[in-house]
Amino acid sequence: MSEQFEPVIVGFTCNWCSYRAADTAGTARVKYAPNVRLIRLMCSGRLDPTFVMKALAGGADGVLITGCHPGDCHYIEQNYKALRRFLLLRRTLAGLGVEPGRIKLIWASAAEGLKLAHEINQFVEEVRALGPLNWPKWNDQPAEIDAVKEVA
Ligand code: FES
Repeated sequence: MSEQFEPVIVGFTCNWCSYRAADTAGTARVKYAPNVRLIRLMCSGRLDPTFVMKALAGGADGVLITGCHPGDCHYIEQNYKALRRFLLLRRTLAGLGVEPGRIKLIWASAAEGLKLAHEINQFVEEVRALGPLNWPKWNDQPAEIDAVKEVA
């Protein structure tokens, strides 16, 4: 009997909306897949693209980015910046040979716990279908660089 692949997903959530949506889901006892490790940011606009790349390089199979709905960002228009970064990240990942579907952007207000739980479950299944990422960890690179230096 083969074991089912359980993807590891890192989720960056906005403090004001989607993190509270996760709280709402918990309070309402709405279950969602335990594969997602949530990291709270003050705003989706705080998401540096390197956070996503480091998560994937560090062993995550997918990255979830969540924020307030367009027009509802507590820092005016930072979530539009998050949207632009998300689109650029998808193109960058495709250029690196990584399926763009490994990252997902979701807008969720504090009241949308049910929606967030549904989106998380759906994303876990999408990443499960893609399989493990197995991206070489950045931590391994110095050893490779040292090996190249020895040959040179
Ligand atoms: Fe939520 Fe900016 S405060 S996305």
